[in-house]
Amino acid sequence: MQENIIPHKFSITTEQHRAIKKHTSFLIWFTGLSGSGKSTIANAVNESLINKSIHTCILDGDSVRKGLNSDLTFSPDGRRENIRRIAEVANLMITHAGLVVLGAFISPYERDRLRIKQIVGEENYIEIYISTPLEVCEKRDVKGLYKKARAGVIKDFTGIDAPYEIPENPSLEIDATKYTIEEASTLILNHIENKLNTNG
Ligand code: ADX
Repeated sequence: MQENIIPHKFSITTEQHRAIKKHTSFLIWFTGLSGSGKSTIANAVNESLINKSIHTCILDGDSVRKGLNSDLTFSPDGRRENIRRIAEVANLMITHAGLVVLGAFISPYERDRLRIKQIVGEENYIEIYISTPLEVCEKRDVKGLYKKARAGVIKDFTGIDAPYEIPENPSLEIDATKYTIEEASTLILNHIENKLNTNG
């Protein structure tokens, strides 16, 4: 099947997309437990990027799982396919639109995160581990899901009855209990500042 798929050679290159936007394109990936602050911090980074006229797209678990990936479960296979599809979408946005993509997903398995890196290319992948401790996420329980998971109403909940594998080599680790949202966002913006001008 795959041998019969021959990609069209589009005339506009990734470099041309990047040139008109006046910045590079890559993926900033936020991984961490539910309630760790991934989407909140990604949102703050996105706001700052937009204020600098950077062209972005933000994707997160709750929005993607309501639409594109509404057919997937939270089993290891479901999560693998969830992450694979998001990585492929991010790759299209990076290469065909020249965007800085922000992705906030639990992505609890190291092998799935390695796959994202393979799909978008190592030079286009920045991994931010939001390492807020489970006790804090559970205590906050913004969506009331930890309570449901403890009661057995939700199965395979990350941190309760499903694993979270700590990232082996993140670009940056941020424990959201130690920084304000603004400070966390600044750490990330400083980290990517050079990358906005030079890919690779
Ligand atoms: S991932 O593990 O496949 O990366 P993803 O980030 O897309 O997860 O979705 C996580 C969100 O789905 C959580 O923030 C939470 O709101 C919701 N959710 C519902 N059921 C579960 C579950 N069993 N485990 C984790 N999150 C869940």
